[in-house]
Amino acid sequence: MPTTAILGLQWGDEGKGKLVDSLCARHDLCVRFQGGGNAGHTVYPEGRKIVLHHLPTGVLHRQCVNVMGQGMVIDPDRLLDEIAEVEARGFALKGRLVISDRAAVTTPMHLSLDGIRESGSGKVGTTKRGIGPTYADRYDRIGVRMVDLLDRTSLKEALERAVAVRACQMGKQAPSVDSMLEPLLQAGEKLKPYIADAALLLAEGLREQRRVLFEGAQGAMLDVGQGTYPFVTSSHTLSTGIPAGCGLVTPLQDVIGVTKAYCTRVGDGPFPTELNDATGELLRTKGGEFGATTGRPRRCGWIDLFALRYVCRISGITRLAITKLDVLSGMETVRVGVGYKDHNEPGLPADIRRFSALRPKYEALPGWSEDISGVRDLAGLPANAQALLRVIEQQVGVPVGIVSVGPGRDAWFTVAG
Ligand code: IMP
Repeated sequence: MPTTAILGLQWGDEGKGKLVDSLCARHDLCVRFQGGGNAGHTVYPEGRKIVLHHLPTGVLHRQCVNVMGQGMVIDPDRLLDEIAEVEARGFALKGRLVISDRAAVTTPMHLSLDGIRESGSGKVGTTKRGIGPTYADRYDRIGVRMVDLLDRTSLKEALERAVAVRACQMGKQAPSVDSMLEPLLQAGEKLKPYIADAALLLAEGLREQRRVLFEGAQGAMLDVGQGTYPFVTSSHTLSTGIPAGCGLVTPLQDVIGVTKAYCTRVGDGPFPTELNDATGELLRTKGGEFGATTGRPRRCGWIDLFALRYVCRISGITRLAITKLDVLSGMETVRVGVGYKDHNEPGLPADIRRFSALRPKYEALPGWSEDISGVRDLAGLPANAQALLRVIEQQVGVPVGIVSVGPGRDAWFTVAG
């Protein structure tokens, strides 16, 4: 069964979109299994930018069938906007998009709840797309699911259940069931052709030896279980999220972990190798580090190889994809985090205060001045850029399989293992 997963290894925004886009050309199915409108996968089909939030990137490849698994949280109106945009660009979705009937629905109430939470003391700097409250309702068994959008009685009951529980938290801000019912039913009517038992379709595809690509959103350090809790998203972003988020178990042949040649983070929470100086500013400007979903400036710093080693181990990564190597061109010295002062354990601390206290130890490597955006093989890179890749491999313990050297759709190459 030819199965590939592509997952972020940092705090999201690793540049997965472009690589997924390239890999989709060689796959029959593209599957999203977690997250929702908080994702922002930027791709340039036919040279024009498009940012996908809910839709799998395979929608931009006409041979690809796209699956939105039951582990996703879906804002129906925003999804309809995305579908309209993609179809207006000439990518018809009829027969090519399947939305799990069991996926969770983000309602206006969840958007309000996210805003309320973020205005209080427990703020984590979310994208305010209602992600946390939607997952919370799912696990509290008061959620609305895609299947509910297809039946007035079911939807009304589901909304009544949720509002009854959340009203005490929201007070006057609690929306009425009536204000949500009709718009959600209308959205359901439009989404009806796509809503189905996605797990079954996927199981069929795998049985027929279809080539399946699992497309991760966010990054490993934002995983709700293994990430920098509570400064995480609310889903399982590691490969461990794939079976639960799709509703079936399948072996993965190739698990590609994507990391920038440096590191970024949006939102609050610890970031040991963050640079609050001119170098951080340079990375932000040169790398265009502003959020695809919220436009927020991203926090920037050096690559953290210790954290990468940790997440590769627990996520079963088989090869690394290093993105934005070109952004480091022109730096006299490039630093890589190889551990932390006074931290002698093999793992990362679960306790957020201990994590926040980590102080990185760096290895300094000589940089390069050449423009590498036109390079298309390893040998074409300057010797110091090749040396950096070797250090990454050695420290992380996983081979580099892909290198991306610019924003263009073809600005990357594979490295033979
Ligand atoms: P939420 O997923 O909107 O609840 O946000 C929780 C945390 O995850 C915040 O720090 C967000 O900035 C971060 N986050 C969520 N989605 C993404 C993403 O696609 N890229 C980068 N950070 C993200």
